[in-house]
Amino acid sequence: MNNEQINELRSKLNIVDVIGSYIPLEKKGRNYFGRCPFHDGDNTPSFCVSPEKNIYTCFACHESGNVFNFVMNHEHISFLEAVEKLAKEVGMDIGFKEKKVDKNAKYYEMMDIANKFFQNNLVSKEGNAARLYLKNRHLNKDIIEEFGIGLALNKHDILTNLLVSKGHSLEELNLIDLSNTNHDTYINRIMFPLQNKDGKVIGFSGRIYDNSNLNKYQNTKETPIFKKRENLFNYHRAKEAIRKEKSVIVMEGFMAVIRSYTIGVKNAIATMGTALSNEQASLINKLSNTIYLCYDGDEAGHKATLSSGEVFSKMGCNVLVIPLSDGLDPDDYILKYGEDKFKNLINNAISFNEYKIKETKKNYNLSNIDDKTKYVNSALLEIAKERDEIKCEIMLKQLAEDTNIWYNTLEKKLLELKNAKESVVKKEDLVIKKDKKDGYLKTMQSLVYYALNNAKAITLIDNSNVYIPNSEIRLLLNEIIAYYNRYSEINEADFYTYLSQSNTDLVNVLKKILSSDYPEMNLDNINESLMAIKKYNIALEIKKLEKEIKEEKDIDRQVKLMEEIRFLKTKEGKSW
Ligand code: UTP
Ligand code: MN
Repeated sequence: MNNEQINELRSKLNIVDVIGSYIPLEKKGRNYFGRCPFHDGDNTPSFCVSPEKNIYTCFACHESGNVFNFVMNHEHISFLEAVEKLAKEVGMDIGFKEKKVDKNAKYYEMMDIANKFFQNNLVSKEGNAARLYLKNRHLNKDIIEEFGIGLALNKHDILTNLLVSKGHSLEELNLIDLSNTNHDTYINRIMFPLQNKDGKVIGFSGRIYDNSNLNKYQNTKETPIFKKRENLFNYHRAKEAIRKEKSVIVMEGFMAVIRSYTIGVKNAIATMGTALSNEQASLINKLSNTIYLCYDGDEAGHKATLSSGEVFSKMGCNVLVIPLSDGLDPDDYILKYGEDKFKNLINNAISFNEYKIKETKKNYNLSNIDDKTKYVNSALLEIAKERDEIKCEIMLKQLAEDTNIWYNTLEKKLLELKNAKESVVKKEDLVIKKDKKDGYLKTMQSLVYYALNNAKAITLIDNSNVYIPNSEIRLLLNEIIAYYNRYSEINEADFYTYLSQSNTDLVNVLKKILSSDYPEMNLDNINESLMAIKKYNIALEIKKLEKEIKEEKDIDRQVKLMEEIRFLKTKEGKSW
């Protein structure tokens, strides 16, 4: 299958018919409107489908894309799955077998053999001690089977030999880390298979179960099929439950996820022993916008909650925290206090902002006046960060209650803080004020819009050699230029297709950009925009040099820097 075929398929599909088969659409003018299926409570309705541009846009939640993106997001399936589904519907034959997929198929097969082998070991006589260990951890037969738990025997090279006897090469075994320098990677460990989002086994985590002082868990290293940053434990199993619950619970360890599963909490997933990656965060956000963080109740867990919470908040998710304490992880908690108490904790989860304030509170003794003052100030700093005015007010009320300080006093102080913060921003940013910065951002974003709607703009942008200071927009424009150079034509809908296959992060940037309105512009106007960005770059450069001068002690260097600034200023003043 190639891009031409996919574009042909897209042009055969009527976007209004396809989306109309999922949600009711009503014609208004040239476009069709409906209630947005990607955010709750859309009564306006704000979801707009354009049959001319072959794209949809929600003016409220900014979700947008072409017909493939709609099916992907609505059905939570991959790009290829969406293409396949729609191709079937219009009776188009698209060859799906790609070389890369074939190559990996062999690795999946090897993983599958290993997985079955480990599972057999566990039920064999040699698995007695391991079975006892699992029994002591309250993991019954059903759960062991559901999660495919197995055992690597306390013997060398049997798996390696088995796979070689089946015709697989040592080179490949080493590559996917079933063998290490031609010998079995896993010896005497309880094996937890790690699966990708389609449920295929891509690696293992092996746990010691005797008193050896080896690393508790040994994980598959990065391989062509096991990419830690791109996978999450239990993702494929939890998918349905997450959709049903309209929320996902993120945990640190996979034992916590398995334990939750035993009490019917099936919408939990775990990062695999590393900090949450951006890829994982967007995978999670694809399934749900409501994210519960349930990390271990220790220092590391609190830190992880803070950093993951920030990541999800920045993505615009509704973030809630299920706080654990006394060093307990969800597994320990459920075993110690029982199912109901844990479910109660979920129901009483607190908002991430509230959590942050509570966390800082622990560092202060509120019966001490100085400490209390410090706490109130730091809590106010947190509240000042909150953009949602309603949330802001709720937190302020909470703080007033907690500290017995008059609400109006706190509100006054909050305003002061907000003003002070703004003046700090101004001081740091002598040349470029915030609204000016926003203006430039909008100008840069408009370039993307014009490039996709007018091929001449692409040539203009490409030839101007203007550096785009925003990295996301710069990457996006480079993609557009590359696409245009390759296909000699471009439109929003087909570009979405192209990007959805290669760079999902940029798809999100594009979605945001295309959900705004841009004024009509001719090529002269676009040229002016480019020149404005060029000036902006110079202004930034001057600012940087001015800062350097201040810090520079050497007089000669200072003079040199001043000369540079003078030169840049003449350039800045020039009309281009
Ligand atoms: P924990 O140490 O909290 O493990 O590590 P756990 O989930 O409570 O497991 P049990 O209850 O001791 O069996 C959390 C996660 O960190 C990774 C694993 O993915 C684990 O799920 N980890 C931990 C490792 O990769 N290696 C280790 O040695 C320890
Ligand atoms: Mn544990």
